[in-house]
Amino acid sequence: MITASASGKIILFGEHAVVYGQPAIAVPVEQVATTVQIEQGTKGIWIDAPGISLSADLSTLAATHPIKKVILDFFGLTNIPQTPLKIQVTSTIPIASGLGSGAAVSVALLRGLSLFYKITITAEQINAIAFEAEKIHHGTPSGIDNTVIAFSRPVYYIKNQRLETFTVRRPFHILIADTGISALTKVAVGDVRALVERDPLVYGNWIEQIGQIVSSAKMCIENGELIELGSLMTQNQTALSHLTVSSPELDTLITTAMTHGALGAKLSGGGRGGNCIALVDESSIEKVTAELLKAGAKNVVHTLIT
Ligand code: PMV
Repeated sequence: MITASASGKIILFGEHAVVYGQPAIAVPVEQVATTVQIEQGTKGIWIDAPGISLSADLSTLAATHPIKKVILDFFGLTNIPQTPLKIQVTSTIPIASGLGSGAAVSVALLRGLSLFYKITITAEQINAIAFEAEKIHHGTPSGIDNTVIAFSRPVYYIKNQRLETFTVRRPFHILIADTGISALTKVAVGDVRALVERDPLVYGNWIEQIGQIVSSAKMCIENGELIELGSLMTQNQTALSHLTVSSPELDTLITTAMTHGALGAKLSGGGRGGNCIALVDESSIEKVTAELLKAGAKNVVHTLIT
């Protein structure tokens, strides 16, 4: 039996605007992950994914099922003949909450299949297949989720451009707080698109402002300016609220983090639920975590961005 995994991710800056060609910054989060175990089966390709209540033979899944698409794309790419398999998918990444659960499943499956069949596939190839599955999940994805997870490194991402990474002058602490509410990115992205089409001047302007915030944030990360970075996070959140993708629960957690000493806070990912992130000093990690939980966060994960 082989085991492979893929981490979760957070978007630090730039979600939604990234769909319109603005830059965004995302980093892998190793504290949560999807794990895939693959062994030889007896007949067909059997998938067990308890997190999404899936226990079925691949042939019975719709052609548009993202897991089916990824597995068939793997065989298509490598020209390996299908053999009976038993695949188990488990994950500590909450679903539909902005941490990249869909992309992590795709990447872990592809890493697992390449290990099982002892064939090398590149991160670029993994990324390309995972992107196709993201289209099923999200409709019109920017590609940021599959990219940060397939390459396992921080990205300064602009759609359809060569991958850029960045250096972190002063490592910083991020708390990731889960509202416990799952929300479909596809719906939030569609709603933002409707707003932009209805009033391109107003909403296009928020999208452009987010792009400017993201390029300033990259400079702050590279220069180790954490106070400014926090303030940019809060500015990014204001713009996201104008795009209608925040929610009362996210707002409560963000206000709580700020009241108890966070340097900045914002939603992360599609919004309307899912997770928010807060930039904190080492000395306030414990306090802010406790207050977030008191304010209703279902879970708080601490990660150090280096
Ligand atoms: O909700 P997530 O983690 O899938 O993040 C989506 C990020 C968006 O910018 C809202 C959509 C996209 O495709 O980039």
